[in-house]
Amino acid sequence: MDYRKTIRLYYDYVVPCYHKTPLVLERGRGTRVWDAQGDEYLDFFPGWAVSGIGHCHKRVSEAIKRQVERLIHVSNNYYHELQGVLAEEIVRHAFPGKVFFCNSGAEANETAFKLVRKLGNPSRNEIITMERSFHGRTLATVAATGQQKYQDGFEPLTPGFVTIPFNDIAALERAVGARTIAVMMELIQGEGGVRVADPQFVSAVRRFCNDKKLYLVFDEVQTGMGRTGRMFCYKNYGVEPDLMTLAKSLGGGFPIGAMVAKKEIADALGPGTHATTFGGGPLACAAALATFEAIDKEKLLSNAVVAGSHLFRRLREIQKKFLFVKEVRGMGLMAGMELTIEGKNIYEQCLQKRLLINCTQGNVLRFMPPLVVREKEIDRACQLLGEVFSEEERNQTIKKGSQEAV
Ligand SMILES: Cc1ncc(COP(=O)(O)O)c(C=O)c1O
Repeated sequence: MDYRKTIRLYYDYVVPCYHKTPLVLERGRGTRVWDAQGDEYLDFFPGWAVSGIGHCHKRVSEAIKRQVERLIHVSNNYYHELQGVLAEEIVRHAFPGKVFFCNSGAEANETAFKLVRKLGNPSRNEIITMERSFHGRTLATVAATGQQKYQDGFEPLTPGFVTIPFNDIAALERAVGARTIAVMMELIQGEGGVRVADPQFVSAVRRFCNDKKLYLVFDEVQTGMGRTGRMFCYKNYGVEPDLMTLAKSLGGGFPIGAMVAKKEIADALGPGTHATTFGGGPLACAAALATFEAIDKEKLLSNAVVAGSHLFRRLREIQKKFLFVKEVRGMGLMAGMELTIEGKNIYEQCLQKRLLINCTQGNVLRFMPPLVVREKEIDRACQLLGEVFSEEERNQTIKKGSQEAV
């Protein structure tokens, strides 16, 4: 189909709630995608962190193909052989616990809210979250999200969420009251601008939760599945949560979410208390099992560490050259570059050069290449970014010169 028709049909028939880039993608493989005209792009933000092990990873595609011929869906009142196997695999990499399967990050977080509220019922139901956090777009997850722009227009917000400044233990101590049941946070705030939690803060939150008998929930929807060089980001901190949520790259591109809870609390969601029709279906489980297999067999965690340090080295070299780069931060293959200028134009110029990145919070460029990325691809991406920055610098100088001449 002509790409113009693809775009027209979207505006005629699809609820227009997304900011769109005029790019129609047709196929992908690893770090690359191709558009409708056959042009190739280097993808350093694959599927908003969903295609974490690269587009159409062979193990994932093959697993889906095999499963699709056998059984596509099984209702959750029967069993199928992959669900328990996948739950065991997640738990093996995480902590002794049990898993609830769903279809997205927001749903995984909703499940965590319901579980802790069930545990605190009836008197303790308040959950503390962090400013600049992002936990999803359902009514409860926007209430949990510490950014007003996601809440505006959807009032009244779901009650029972209190937001405190990130990395501020004194604020946490002040916020906790008799009704508090849990603290929820991302270890690296992705949508919030790639802001990394301080190790001292994370340790203090854990100790504080232990003292006050609060549940600690880590939202690993974006940071999980090897993104930071460990299977889950919390392992970099040596601090274990009571609950953890996953989605995005768990299925290697296939939709799946999961909430993992410590064994001693998981059974609070007994039969009839919670459900989702599609959760933990055989196709999603096959895709997620293949994703774990790829990460393990292809040593993608160590690649995330090695390639990640190369990425940070190259980004810091760029930082030294351009005054408008304020800071480079992140971990593993999750990098943010904060600018003192708007990032939109940089994003668009990168797109022109066939490099896909992201810009969040208006001025933070975000790079999350697939875990299979190679150093020469990082070099190429950084070379293109450097070219875009040089052009930006030239334009700024010309603009300044002409303003001075007036
Ligand atoms: C940390 C975090 N939590 C939750 C979500 C929501 O996930 P989903 O869009 O799959 O509902 C996101 C999505 O960007 C996220 O980054």
